[in-house]
Amino acid sequence: MSHGPVPAVPACSVERLRADFDRLAEFHDPERPGWTRGAFSPFYAASRDWMASRMSAAGLTVRRDAVDNLIGTLPGARTDAPALVTGSHTDTVEGGGRFDGIIGVLGALEAVRTLADAGIALEHELRVVDFFNEEPNQFGLSCVGSRALVGEVTRKHLDLDDGAGETLRDALARVGGSPDDLPEARWSGDDVAAFLELHIEQGPVLEHEGLPVAVVSAIAGIDRYRVEFTGRPDHAGATPMDYRYDASCAAAETVLAVERLAADEGTGVATTGRIEIEPGAPNVVPGRARLWVEFRSGEREWLDDCGRGLHEAARAAAERRGVQADVHSLSASDPVAADTRIRELLERGNTRLGLPHRTMFSGAGHDAAHMARLAPMGMLFVPSHGGRSHCPEEWTDLEQVATGARALAQGLVEVDRARRRDAAPGEDGTVL
Ligand code: GLV
Ligand code: MN
Ligand code: MN
Repeated sequence: MSHGPVPAVPACSVERLRADFDRLAEFHDPERPGWTRGAFSPFYAASRDWMASRMSAAGLTVRRDAVDNLIGTLPGARTDAPALVTGSHTDTVEGGGRFDGIIGVLGALEAVRTLADAGIALEHELRVVDFFNEEPNQFGLSCVGSRALVGEVTRKHLDLDDGAGETLRDALARVGGSPDDLPEARWSGDDVAAFLELHIEQGPVLEHEGLPVAVVSAIAGIDRYRVEFTGRPDHAGATPMDYRYDASCAAAETVLAVERLAADEGTGVATTGRIEIEPGAPNVVPGRARLWVEFRSGEREWLDDCGRGLHEAARAAAERRGVQADVHSLSASDPVAADTRIRELLERGNTRLGLPHRTMFSGAGHDAAHMARLAPMGMLFVPSHGGRSHCPEEWTDLEQVATGARALAQGLVEVDRARRRDAAPGEDGTVL
């Protein structure tokens, strides 16, 4: 077989993207702030039925797996080649925005449509995945869909509970998944040639530097914990200060200790993003307090040090207050480097399209970090206005989204052509 030069993908349609983004944004919880679409909500379920129809309309054959990943497939010219996979997520954080994850799914569909319009056929099968539940859920787990595809959802994960009596296993069944069949959702690395994900930067750098796109070098590791302090509820007026077992004070000391762990050594970040106090009345000394803590870094060693620091800080605070502290590890994900060859091909694609670009580390977690276990992984970022994300103000102009979708389409073409078994050495002749 002989092959021509690698084609340059034409511009994507801003108007098609705008229509899809506007429609998807309608599926949100009107009672919650921003564009909230939690993974176990009816709004998410309804949005994914719509998403399945958009996948079909783009020419993909759609199926849903045991964990309710939405998978759209387009056959390639070659039937003996592993698939190119792209995608991201469409659930949001509480009070989230309209672009985080969403660009990686709607942008992928626009890439598929643009390639079809331009008559550019891929030799590899293409799969577009709307991964189920990427954001941290009420059970303390994130990236449920991508973890399931790589066989990383454990029995222990399924037993995680939300503190109100429901387990992740129950919740998955409630939304139509089959938690007992999770092993069947697992993919083999032999079937996947590469995974690419388009995402918003979620920080200020690209906008500040006036660049349309970045190629990700690595994704931070993330360790999450729930810390429970058990003291004693007592009358807030009748109990003198030195007779109290105040769980909230031990928790407060620990929140500040968590901040210090990251502030003292600059290689990562630490956040206590959720605090619960019980019974939660102004006239009762708090008998129970729960913290959700996470550490992020490119270095596993630093994450482990912080985990030890958290145990030590919680124990010391509890001792001072005469309460009990229990630290539960919820999840631990290692930092993941993007594949060097895929990075080069994404850069080559950006250059072919005349898009100035830079390399960037991702402090945010992504489905790509899990998919990297299966296949060579690469990511593209586009700018976020004001660096805002995980808030209703999160914004990327649809023209910038279209540029990202085009860069993704070009990246797919570059990887597709570079993997040609029979390609001649040279620009498009490298076999991965
Ligand atoms: C995903 O949004 C994350 O938590 O980084
Ligand atoms: Mn997010
Ligand atoms: Mn995301």
